[in-house]
Amino acid sequence: MKRSIPELLQSEQPLVMVTAYDYPGGLHAEAAGVDLILVGDSLGNVVLGYESTAPVTLGDMIHHGKAVRRGAPQTFLVVDMPFGTYHTGVTDAMRKAVRIIQETGADAVKMEGSTPEVLQVVDTLTRNGVPVVGHVGLMPQTATAQGGLRVQGKDDDTARRTLEGALALEAAGAFCVVLEAIPARLAKLITERLRVPTIGIGAGINCDGQVLVTHDLLGIYEGEEKKIARRYAEVGRVSREAIAQYAAEVRRREFPTRENSFVMKDDVLDKLY
Ligand code: KIV
Repeated sequence: MKRSIPELLQSEQPLVMVTAYDYPGGLHAEAAGVDLILVGDSLGNVVLGYESTAPVTLGDMIHHGKAVRRGAPQTFLVVDMPFGTYHTGVTDAMRKAVRIIQETGADAVKMEGSTPEVLQVVDTLTRNGVPVVGHVGLMPQTATAQGGLRVQGKDDDTARRTLEGALALEAAGAFCVVLEAIPARLAKLITERLRVPTIGIGAGINCDGQVLVTHDLLGIYEGEEKKIARRYAEVGRVSREAIAQYAAEVRRREFPTRENSFVMKDDVLDKLY
């Protein structure tokens, strides 16, 4: 059964969120019993091969969100509003959020930041029935302006801004807030100060929940493990080895075998000669 927002807010156990970008991703996440699935705009990096999330469009998010929903009909689904789609006025942001909800079947949208403009959008959406997940700390959509993909909240200025941003998002109506790449003690303080749950990624153990990018936890890309993630499988290596073995067997004419082939009666074939 899909968990409702009140159930998520009252969860005694840490909330578990993972990203998904397609039908099998949704299927596996739902079968694994996660509490929330995020169709993150990390789609741009891990699925579409862009260098950042900036090129991801509303159309991309809707296309992938629909596929995830087909795989995970019974899990609380959050879809990211991509870069630039909630900075063009409150009415326009509302229209785009409604498109996401109606076309993908998502339960909520997520947006980054806590500027007055974003807070106004969060306020309008939540007062009009669109649940919103906030996101502070490292915000990949505007990482260039933040000085690159780096930890936030280590100095007076960014620590205070992150804390105040999270509080302001709660006051504007966000029902939970993602904390990305901030010191664990700052995340603990924010978690203590907020009534709504925090969901951390690179924010330590004391958040109310955790989120990971599925490609990181599955090890879809080989190479060094990211500091903020743990690799629970080596899907990248297993995939590469499987494809290489298939290629070798095709080249040696070992695949397909009789078991993989269809038969026909001799007389049907004979008539063709
Ligand atoms: O896009 C994304 O995957 C995210 C997570 C890192 C929280 O926003």
